[in-house]
Amino acid sequence: MNISIIGGGAWGTTLAQALSDNGNLVLIRDINNDFVNKINNEHLHPFFDLEIPATIKATLSLDEALNFSDVIILCVPTKAMRIVLTDISKIINNKKLFINVSKGIEPNTSKRVSEILDEVIDSKYIEGYVALSGPSHAEELILRKLTALVSASKNEAAAKKVQKLFSNDKYLRVYTTDDVIGVEAGGAIKNAIAIVSGIASGMGLGENARAMLITRGIKEIVSVVVALGGKMETAYGLSGIGDLIVTASSMNSRNFQCGLKIGSGMSIDEAVGSINQSVEGIRAIIASYEIGKKNNIELPIISTAYRLVSGEVNAKEALSLLMSRSLKEERYW
Ligand SMILES: NC(=O)c1ccc[n+]([C@@H]2O[C@H](COP(=O)([O-])OP(=O)(O)OC[C@H]3O[C@@H](n4cnc5c(N)ncnc54)[C@H](O)[C@@H]3O)[C@@H](O)[C@H]2O)c1
Repeated sequence: MNISIIGGGAWGTTLAQALSDNGNLVLIRDINNDFVNKINNEHLHPFFDLEIPATIKATLSLDEALNFSDVIILCVPTKAMRIVLTDISKIINNKKLFINVSKGIEPNTSKRVSEILDEVIDSKYIEGYVALSGPSHAEELILRKLTALVSASKNEAAAKKVQKLFSNDKYLRVYTTDDVIGVEAGGAIKNAIAIVSGIASGMGLGENARAMLITRGIKEIVSVVVALGGKMETAYGLSGIGDLIVTASSMNSRNFQCGLKIGSGMSIDEAVGSINQSVEGIRAIIASYEIGKKNNIELPIISTAYRLVSGEVNAKEALSLLMSRSLKEERYW
């Protein structure tokens, strides 16, 4: 089957290889000419310089990508998603199945990708919408290391179609759910706690502290997902806690790395700027804080991280704010 991927960075090109391994023809659209040339002429992954199947092609043309397939994978950073979808809305002329694999919340609006899609693309052109997410470092999947994802759609047939498209019996296993909000929200909000975990490590706090922040952070992720309308069990699944486990202590995670730099004294802008790929977690902290405030949910770690990223307190002051809270009973629900 032909499949188009919009955004051929670390994740988009990695998914292209998995889809190619499963017998599909993939066309990637990226706006970076060097990436397009690298894929077409050298058959190399643009970030990892590893060989990828020669059948994977790339283009600068959005028109060409849309004409190539009726299955469109959206893999640009969330901050670029509205621009990409608006460009698509101007040329789309038949129904497409949209698969979103980005993990983030739109800056300024705090909207999820399914909400942006509904606003921008005429419903007569949407065959279905699937959010595909889970614990997955591109650095590992590109080496065909075993990975599991969740395919979420309100349309069961669409969720199953994507499950079948990506799954293979060698290294990739996909589960399904109907909880789109839970999968989209969990994948985005866990980045907030990954940054906090990185900050703690950067400050030289030990593994005890990191375990505390991650565990107490889980409670906050679940609360935000549920406040947005997602299911608690989804937040506890692969796309929520599963993804937090893989993100919150790994140097392969740019959110963890960004936190590490902030914890060792870099400003937020310096830390984000020093990572030459998208860091979705800063926006996740801001969005989660706003959601908590609106819904009157107690989110001590996220609120403290918010004060830190807004420049109100530094990392040391943030830590003493958390430590000086009144003592509590351990309760998750
Ligand atoms: N890297 C991972 O391991 C991983 C895993 C799962 C999900 N994700 C998510 O996937 C999304 C993308 O991550 P990434 O790691 O590939 O980021 P990246 O920064 O490596 O790549 C983003 C790509 O999007 C391209 N792009 C930007 N604007 C574009 C546009 N208007 N049209 C077409 N291409 C455009 C960029 O040129 C770049 O190639 C993020 O939301 C991330 O959270 C990443």
